[in-house]
Amino acid sequence: MRLQIIPFFAALICGILCTYYDYGYEGASEGDYAGLAMGPSTANCAPECTCPYSYPTAMYCDNRKLKKIPMIPPGIQYLYLQSNQLDGIEDGTFKNVTDLKWLILDHNFLTNAKIKKNVFSGLKHLEKLYISFNNLTELVGPLPKSLDDLRVTNNKISKIPSNTLEGLENLTTIYLQHNALKEDSISGAFKGLKQLSHLDLSFNEITKLPKGLPSSISTLYLDNNKIGNIPDEYFQGFKSLQFLRLSNNKLKDGGVPGNAFNVSSLVELDLSFNELGSIPAVNEGLENLYLQVNKIQKFNLGSFCKIIGPLEYSKIKHLRLDGNNISRTDMPHDMYTCLRVANEIDLGH
Ligand SMILES: *[C@@H]1O[C@H](CO)[C@@H](O)[C@H](O)[C@H]1NC(C)=O
Ligand SMILES: *[C@@H]1O[C@H](CO)[C@@H](O)[C@H](O)[C@H]1NC(C)=O
Ligand SMILES: *[C@@H]1O[C@H](CO)[C@@H](O)[C@H](O)[C@H]1NC(C)=O
Ligand SMILES: *[C@@H]1O[C@H](CO)[C@@H](O)[C@H](O)[C@H]1NC(C)=O
Ligand SMILES: *[C@@H]1O[C@H](CO)[C@@H](O)[C@H](O)[C@H]1NC(C)=O
Repeated sequence: MRLQIIPFFAALICGILCTYYDYGYEGASEGDYAGLAMGPSTANCAPECTCPYSYPTAMYCDNRKLKKIPMIPPGIQYLYLQSNQLDGIEDGTFKNVTDLKWLILDHNFLTNAKIKKNVFSGLKHLEKLYISFNNLTELVGPLPKSLDDLRVTNNKISKIPSNTLEGLENLTTIYLQHNALKEDSISGAFKGLKQLSHLDLSFNEITKLPKGLPSSISTLYLDNNKIGNIPDEYFQGFKSLQFLRLSNNKLKDGGVPGNAFNVSSLVELDLSFNELGSIPAVNEGLENLYLQVNKIQKFNLGSFCKIIGPLEYSKIKHLRLDGNNISRTDMPHDMYTCLRVANEIDLGH
């Protein structure tokens, strides 16, 4: 009898724990989840959800086939509603919890038409809002000024109404990948976001680089769009830009001005899967350069070093050139006077 019970309990415990591990959003350690999975809920929790004694400000309502947001008792600051069947948010839903900090709504059926206009604006302490994998066609808003992290990937967003992000001075992270954004729908949308450091606009339909991006950005992902050219001096305005991805676009030599990517703060530049015919000039401090699958025929050392001296040399460590038309014999003999620390140059042969 005992021997049969043990595996049953093992399976039960895993069933509970493994579910929570899947939703291990940063900030709450696995230890918290392990504790909460065992214990009963606090007294005023919504009956459909779990509010662990060990973590009483959190309410877990994920994966419960919910069609409506359950009642939310006062005191909740972390609300997990992902992986349900929610299609809208009614007025007054969050009226008990104006000090909510995290609101996780990923993997539901939310549409803009069924989200009441001001449901988020009263949440004066909201830091994280996640609504990825829903059916949104516009960015939701207005949003509270306390917001720090906004993730709205894998929707069908083609429009960011012009004042949606206005004045969100604490916003550092925006994930908008896998939507239907075009250049005119985002122009000006990010203006004035003084703390913005991570912006992911990859997998959209952007044909031109957006105007008015904040100069605080350090990580900018624009890969898998339809960008054909870089305006003169465009990236020079970003004094903190370290990681730039433009792979899988339509860049050709003619659309890339001479110093487009010679931006002194850059550490990593991904230009793979474009139509470049030559290696663009890059900054001395760049460490990783991805140029695989372009149409490069010639290895131009001058793209890395204009001057070579005791302290003047390229900091490139990793260079990918595979999927081009360059072989070992095209590499200049004096290459290592410039590429002194390059420990991996991939030519694909
Ligand atoms: C607010 O909290 C009270 C008491 O816990 C509860 O009865 C009520 O349903 C909650 N309202 C909402 C909108 O969640
Ligand atoms: C949401 O999008 C999916 C996939 O495009 C679609 O099948 C579904 O009908 C949409 N649901 C709503 C409520 O719009
Ligand atoms: C912005 O963040 C700071 C530091 O966490 C906080 O003190 C301030 O209240 C936040 N601003 C708003 C409008 O919430
Ligand atoms: C990059 O720009 C700097 C500063 O303008 C310049 O000194 C350097 O020669 C340029 N590098 C290349 C490879 O053109
Ligand atoms: C590759 O380069 C060689 C000479 O370096 C040239 O003869 C050949 O036509 C090029 N191939 C393609 C596909 O451009």
